[in-house]
Amino acid sequence: MIVCHCRNISDAELHSAIDWMRAADPETLITPGKVYRALGKAADCGGCVSLFLGTMRQNPNLEVPQLKPMHLRDSRGATQEPKTCKATAKSSTISTGRSAAS
Ligand code: FES
Repeated sequence: MIVCHCRNISDAELHSAIDWMRAADPETLITPGKVYRALGKAADCGGCVSLFLGTMRQNPNLEVPQLKPMHLRDSRGATQEPKTCKATAKSSTISTGRSAAS
């Protein structure tokens, strides 16, 4: 099926471009502009946008896989276990040293 008539892009080409981009970079955001660029083309009239986006959304590789939050990764990207709070009951009663009269 032709998705973009101006640039003669089929749904198979669109899915191949998405699969290729996801394989090349698992964390990249895949946009219609990037798909056009990957196919060596550029949008013309824009009349295909809704069909283009609908076809893109059918591809299971469109979404970025869920990543661990940054605070759980070290500088090399490896994940760490969350650290537990070492606060004690004593540390929550910190005195400022000021009295109410001063
Ligand atoms: S139909 Fe896709 S840009 Fe015109």
